[in-house]
Amino acid sequence: MEEVVRLEDVWKVYGKGEAAVTALKGIDLTIHRGEYVAIMGPSGSGKSTLMHIMGLLDTPTKGKVYVGGRDVSWLGEDERALLRRNYIGFVFQTYNLIPTLTAMENVELPMIFAGVPERERKRRARELLEKVGLGDRVNHLPSQLSGGQQQRVAIARALANDPDLILADEPTGNLDSKTGERILDMFDELHDEGRTLVIVTHDEEVAKRAERIVRIRDGKIEEVIG
Ligand SMILES: Nc1ncnc2c1ncn2[C@@H]1O[C@H](COP(=O)(O)OP(=O)(O)OP(=O)(O)O)[C@@H](O)[C@H]1O
Ligand SMILES: [Mg+2]
Repeated sequence: MEEVVRLEDVWKVYGKGEAAVTALKGIDLTIHRGEYVAIMGPSGSGKSTLMHIMGLLDTPTKGKVYVGGRDVSWLGEDERALLRRNYIGFVFQTYNLIPTLTAMENVELPMIFAGVPERERKRRARELLEKVGLGDRVNHLPSQLSGGQQQRVAIARALANDPDLILADEPTGNLDSKTGERILDMFDELHDEGRTLVIVTHDEEVAKRAERIVRIRDGKIEEVIG
């Protein structure tokens, strides 16, 4: 099976000396194309750190990261940013939309960075917002949207550059259970479309939707189910 991202003996140490925290302790993990993987584990176990490294938002202290089979461990910040733009869509617990931009403009933003011409960009942003059921909210600001609607804008934004991998760090953590379920249905649809998803969750019910569950504890993979 084609691999999207592979981590090889990844370690992450934050800080130095007495204050140093080892957040990841030798993680080996491969995500294959089309997979739906849930990452679970207690608070502080290293889940977000792992997501940031898989998403090229951060680099390991030791170990290697391969994207599409290519070692990206030694890329500089500019090269990583370029790769990240086309390879990854990130969905955060707190949505992380730009408050002064409309739903449409938020979805357009990654496409602006990628140099997509305006007409094509607007067409695609509208199409994505329609896909997540927000075709009638394109000109609303985040503050004029509910939490679930904001998260749907964030999902549309994550899809903007047609990424190889969608990473979601507790995407339903701030939502009521019904709204959370709607967001998860959306991830199911993305999975059915053949997209590759990795989602961090505390919720066993959420994890049941995934094909594989990776449990981490104290910076190590404790168990892989599926
Ligand atoms: N920027 C940082 N500087 C120093 N330590 C950090 C930093 N980010 C995370 N840590 C530490 O690394 C460990 C792992 O943190 P991480 O955020 O990956 O955990 P998590 O599993 O996502 O937890 P949660 O479920 O609470 O979100 C924790 O002990 C945390 O305090
Ligand atoms: Mg976290």
